[in-house]
Amino acid sequence: MTSLIAPSILSADFCRLAQELETVQTADWLHVDVMDGQFVPNLTVGVPVVESLRKTTDKFLDVHLMIEKPLRYVEAFAKAGADLLTFHLEADHPSGIRAAIDLAGRLGIQKGVALRPITKAEAVLPYLADIDLVLVMTVEPGFGGQAFMADQLDTVRAVRALIDKHDPACRLEVDGGIDPATIGGVYAAGADTFVAGSAVFGQGDRAAAIARLRGACHG
Ligand code: DX5
Ligand code: ZN
Repeated sequence: MTSLIAPSILSADFCRLAQELETVQTADWLHVDVMDGQFVPNLTVGVPVVESLRKTTDKFLDVHLMIEKPLRYVEAFAKAGADLLTFHLEADHPSGIRAAIDLAGRLGIQKGVALRPITKAEAVLPYLADIDLVLVMTVEPGFGGQAFMADQLDTVRAVRALIDKHDPACRLEVDGGIDPATIGGVYAAGADTFVAGSAVFGQGDRAAAIARLRGACHG
């Protein structure tokens, strides 16, 4: 599967978002971190920002929902133009996660599930046949610029094995502390989709930063 680089706009300058997007034209996806101050301690952006992004760019919008009971917002984010919504398995009862996946499917957009570092790989099994992506967090969700958790490589390997067995078309995304030094290890462990915030928007030359990440995962 082709490797994809997904810069996280969390590390961009929100006052200059349109110009910031121009600087990452060579990326594959745009990653949008939605936080509610409940599921994670931080608050970020929501539906209106996705709507504005949709008017400004044709890029695939990969929306990472770090919010409690995400089912409540599936329709609004789909209408706003998200291409993929990712739900944290810890954010609701299994029936709520299942309903969110089903609703995203009915609305014609892609859907994924995300795992906090504490959550075991096997937790994805009940959903695997019905999703397009599994996101393994390689930091505790909530903030950009944190250090990569190398012990999450075991989870990446375990999810890779489950995907290969049950749903080979499913993408395996990693998010948190991904930079030119850490991306090779997660690629080798089986990830194919790489979120990077500070390693892209924290750099002066974004095209060069994206090229460095690609070089390290043979994308
Ligand atoms: C953290 C977010 C990440 C964050 C990554 O909760 O999910 O997407 O933006 O930032 P870096 O790449 O700087 O760790
Ligand atoms: Zn994210």
